[in-house]
Amino acid sequence: MTWHAQMIAADQAFDGAPLLRTEFALEDGHGAVARATLTLTAQGVVEAWLNGRPVSDDVLTPGWSSYEWRLRYATYDVTALVEASASESATVLGLALGKGWFGGRLGWSGGGSYYGDAQGAFAQLEVEFADGSTQLIVTDDSWASGPSAVLANDLYDGETIDARLRDDAWKRPGFAGDGWTGTHALEFDTAKLEPYIGPSVKRWAALPVQEISTSPSGKTLIDFGQNLVGWIKVRVQGPAGTEVVIRHAEVLEHGELGVRPLRTAQATDRYLLSGGADEFEPTFTFHGFRYAEVDGWPGELRDEDLRAVVVHSDMRRTGWVETSNELVNRMHENAVWSMRDNFVGVPTDCPQRDERLGWTGDLNAFGPTAAYLYDVRSVLGSWLDDLAAEQAEKGYVPWVVPDILSTPSPPTALWSDVAVSLPWALYQEYGDQGILRRAYPSMTTFIRSVEAVLDENGLWSSGFQYGDWLDPDAPMDNPAGGKTDRHLVASAYLAKTTREMAETAAILGEDDDARHFTALADRVRAAFRREYVTAGGRVANETATAYALAICFGLLDEDQRRHAGDQLARLVAKAGFTISTGFAGTPMVTDALSSTGHLAEAYALLTETRCPSFLYPVTMGATTIWERWDSIRPDGTINPSGMTSLNHYAFGAVCSWLHRVVGGIQAAAPGYRRLLIAPQPGGGLTHASARHVTVHGEVAVTWRIEEGVITVDVTIPPGTEALVRLPLHPEAAEVTVEAGTHSWRYSAPGAERPEYSMDTALNVLAADPIVWRSLTEVFAKHLPGIPIDGNAPEAAGMTLELLLQYIPGAAPELREDLEQAVTTAAVPA
Ligand code: BGC
Repeated sequence: MTWHAQMIAADQAFDGAPLLRTEFALEDGHGAVARATLTLTAQGVVEAWLNGRPVSDDVLTPGWSSYEWRLRYATYDVTALVEASASESATVLGLALGKGWFGGRLGWSGGGSYYGDAQGAFAQLEVEFADGSTQLIVTDDSWASGPSAVLANDLYDGETIDARLRDDAWKRPGFAGDGWTGTHALEFDTAKLEPYIGPSVKRWAALPVQEISTSPSGKTLIDFGQNLVGWIKVRVQGPAGTEVVIRHAEVLEHGELGVRPLRTAQATDRYLLSGGADEFEPTFTFHGFRYAEVDGWPGELRDEDLRAVVVHSDMRRTGWVETSNELVNRMHENAVWSMRDNFVGVPTDCPQRDERLGWTGDLNAFGPTAAYLYDVRSVLGSWLDDLAAEQAEKGYVPWVVPDILSTPSPPTALWSDVAVSLPWALYQEYGDQGILRRAYPSMTTFIRSVEAVLDENGLWSSGFQYGDWLDPDAPMDNPAGGKTDRHLVASAYLAKTTREMAETAAILGEDDDARHFTALADRVRAAFRREYVTAGGRVANETATAYALAICFGLLDEDQRRHAGDQLARLVAKAGFTISTGFAGTPMVTDALSSTGHLAEAYALLTETRCPSFLYPVTMGATTIWERWDSIRPDGTINPSGMTSLNHYAFGAVCSWLHRVVGGIQAAAPGYRRLLIAPQPGGGLTHASARHVTVHGEVAVTWRIEEGVITVDVTIPPGTEALVRLPLHPEAAEVTVEAGTHSWRYSAPGAERPEYSMDTALNVLAADPIVWRSLTEVFAKHLPGIPIDGNAPEAAGMTLELLLQYIPGAAPELREDLEQAVTTAAVPA
């Protein structure tokens, strides 16, 4: 692309969003307009019109990238718009420029303009005529600039619009330009320009108001019923100059808008009314919210006056799963929402507070889930280009990409190693070696940087680590201080990433590197085993995370693995199936259980509802995945930590297990060229369906259990084959099938829920984690402090009926509760 445009800025300084315009006549004598293409970008965010007609429905163009090295431009076919203006006296190309990520606030330190004050717009319109000649219209210092009705705009703080200042004349030919001045070219290196490969950000839906209410202090509150990202579109009429103020938040606290989790983000839009019928849509900001407080509304506020507009990167949805358990379904839906909400250009940790950064660890944990749910090739491909650009310049993988942190990021497991594991996960999903090739320099540089700091034993034993971040047992003010040794976590993850690196080198035919990285992976694995694993298979620390990592990352031999699985199952049962893992362990723990013969415990973990657990937030009304297991505490109060978001996708990583193990769709070769269809029913589920659009086409699996008969329906896309492991099949049948639809129906004795009674032996009840969980709740309620061990040798000869006889004077409710627990507990809600 040859660039003729310049990055231009308004001559006068505006607090609000400046407007930029040029007016031109189409050249005569070349015939009709054959094609017109607008190339558009900004240091800020930009919107464009041709004679008043919007050029695109994209918003927040050009999104955020590592602006120091990469600025993406959008390309629009504007032939129809230019043709439409040919009959008019002239054509006006008009731009509105918001602060966006370039000029607005970024991060919690309070400052704006991280990238400097040089906000500007860059546009190149190329009109091709029938005779093959072209006319270029480009941003340069001949353009005019003027004020808009947008008096203030910031992604964190919100937007102020004064409708009295609105006048669309500037978008039309012949505008006099009173109060307007010129523009000047900014110093700008066009070598930074890259085509937009990620999908642009678009409006995705408009949600209606669910409820309007009055808070205890008399404020008007709106509930949209869903935690979302975007803004509120407003229709209003009132006396000129009336100020309507809308504040946003994810949660209510004591019946009032709960803005504490936003920290310093104001998330406030202000509208000054014109006196006529006004419509406001603040497209130079976005908020993470479910609730809003409306102040200053003239007259009565009606539902239809407001709509919540959801915006996110316009990715194609590719993955679904649905089960017979509504709470599980809602959790999955929450993960989908958290993904939407946190993919506004850059994959972020959270979308609401003064942060919203591309935290590497969050994406690393959630990456495989994200790749199942949506086509993320472009959006994450672009993000990996940012990562590589940052790394090449700075020498390290920043903890956040784009990096705006004030200090360098030393390498850390799960965060920095996203440089290896994300390309690897994308390769598994799409089977495209080009992903690995493109990321290869970044991957190898990262691994070598860690190799350089290993101790003499081959362990990653020094330096800062985030460890099992947000382990629920970590102190509230030290989320990295969980119970699993941070360097155990680091070395375990390194064993995984060095293996991914070695395989990548082999796939790409980098033989010397493949040998080197294989030896490194072996060395790290051996070092881990020496330091942290006993001969029998106990893993130092004895935490769920330590076991889960050792099991899932292949750090144990077969016997050790079995033993470690048993130990892990014991640990999760001991915790009553509440969760005890953080960012590092949570994506692995259900896999570690189900792959070592502890499917029942994996389901028990999945379906637990007490705090902290996967489903606890759902029982508290969550509509997105929370940052902390107890972002809202059981008493309904907001966790007082300064780091409490209700919209963090990281813990949603468990959904990958739902897709692969409950739904049963797994890639057996990169890109799903071969599939393993192996659903594993359990947890009282009576059906599940999963659907995934792979690069070969759609895979679908449904299983359903009815009166001891299971039906399994599988659809395999063209060009692939699948090994189907028939669930609960009496002979454990496995069938290889080709593309097409296949169905099976058979009696599955194991599918029937075992029937328990007051006369079932205690050790049998204890072996069913879901029933035992319910019973322990009853014991805790009626017999506090009395230990009842279902695994003790004498439990084989004990029943609940007998137990009652040992408790003279037991309240009748004890019997009732026990009977209820044994008969209903195996089927969750
Ligand atoms: C973010 C996290 C992130 C972490 C690491 C937090 O503020 O919200 O999700 O990974 O910082 O320090």
